[in-house]
Amino acid sequence: MAEFDVIIIGAGPGGYVGAIRCAQLGLKTAVVEGRETLGGTCLNVGCIPSKALLHATHCLHDAETNFARMGLKGKSPSVDWPAMLGYKDEVIGQNTKGIEFLFKKNKITWLKGWGSIPGAGRVKVGDTVHETKNIVIATGSEPSSLPGVTVDEKVVVTSTGALSLAKVPKTMAVIGAGVIGLELGSVYARLGSAVTVVEYLDAITPGMDGEVQKTFQRLLKRQGLDFIMGAAVRDVAVARGKARLTYRLRKNDAEATLDADCVLVATGRKPYTDGLGLDALGVDMEERGQIRTGKHYDTNIKGIYAIGDAISGPMLAHKAEDEGIAVAEILAGKAGHVNYNVIPGVIYTTPEVAAVGATEEQLKAAGHAYKVGKFAFMGNGRAKAVFQGEGFVKILADKDSDRILGAHIIGPAAGELIHEICVGMEFGAAAEDIALTCHAHPTFSEALREAALACGDGPIHS
Ligand code: NAI
Repeated sequence: MAEFDVIIIGAGPGGYVGAIRCAQLGLKTAVVEGRETLGGTCLNVGCIPSKALLHATHCLHDAETNFARMGLKGKSPSVDWPAMLGYKDEVIGQNTKGIEFLFKKNKITWLKGWGSIPGAGRVKVGDTVHETKNIVIATGSEPSSLPGVTVDEKVVVTSTGALSLAKVPKTMAVIGAGVIGLELGSVYARLGSAVTVVEYLDAITPGMDGEVQKTFQRLLKRQGLDFIMGAAVRDVAVARGKARLTYRLRKNDAEATLDADCVLVATGRKPYTDGLGLDALGVDMEERGQIRTGKHYDTNIKGIYAIGDAISGPMLAHKAEDEGIAVAEILAGKAGHVNYNVIPGVIYTTPEVAAVGATEEQLKAAGHAYKVGKFAFMGNGRAKAVFQGEGFVKILADKDSDRILGAHIIGPAAGELIHEICVGMEFGAAAEDIALTCHAHPTFSEALREAALACGDGPIHS
């Protein structure tokens, strides 16, 4: 008799959520985790701590720029950096302890240590080999390295080091204008660092709607972020605690340098599968290091499954969570399923940026006949009242059926608003369904309704 029905390796959002659902469905469940705390990258050194610092610095920025305009006079707050890091750590602690509580409540065994798979049905943690009917690999991802760049997590940092810098740097160079670079670049720009983002491509946030990219970059520039676009970073040299970054401009091959007190390397992440023993097991891998899985998250080895950042698809905590739930349901004999057409993406800057479904660029490339309904937050009374009248909502709908194909939002609470569209898309909604739904006034969500109206006879407030 196996000791467990399922052992999940990794307690990030994919692994811990999957474990809870496995336990709820009556499976005897264990999770292997080598960190001191549960929650993986997301809770310990990713989503949650970065949101704490984004929130704190957003409040600071608001106080500095908007308080006086609202008749709130007095000295602007000053930054006590160790105290701000303390607040961030407290938020991490509350969340990781919350998962520990959920593990106890659901009778999930935490096998503390780093796991490996000596064979199907067996997971080794420390010197002990545990027998299990099924194994789910949920080991996540790690920052990808850049040739010529050595990370020391002090002067040259990944997102992990950037969340715990000893002090706020005077100058910061960010390599990569993706989600991590722009979220953490925003944090330090608001704290007073002179931030320069060096990006290989000609547009920020690759894969995002082109119009959103342009508006987003313009607004970030206005907040003080500098951009060097079309520049490939070749090398970062550190001397006496300072960094010199060398990059090559793609348009003319010219080389230039940039000096900074701190360099954040944010050039993407790669699946983390080291030490699991996948080679020896003969687990099929994708070309870019992901574990190859079938429709049921099954690998080519019977009884071994994989989910989250370790397999293909967007590297997002909520995608991993959904896969964790789906694989639990599959293991319990139910029909687990993830709708990959409706996975939102959010960037938690100010303004927030959010998207779901197809971009205009993708629809054009696919030759899909579509219509666009767009509405600027400038026409939304609530947004103007809180100085967030910049940005817009854009809904893309099928030209004939009016069915919603995608939505792109840059503006206040975009990360919350996008879910109205997600629910709509899950139900196969037409833009008209959103347009005919009464939206409370005054709310930011009225901008969604107006964009939906713009897919038909036209919006009211523009
Ligand atoms: P990313 O893939 O989003 O962006 C990396 C950027 O670096 C790209 O624009 C790329 O062109 C650029 N780049 C690569 N090599 C370069 C070089 N040598 N010189 C200059 N630029 C270079 O990667 P990022 O921001 O590191 O994020 C990693 C993953 O984590 C992503 O999948 C992201 O979706 C996820 N994430 C999601 C968050 C969210 O949903 N809010 C927050 C943080 C991370």
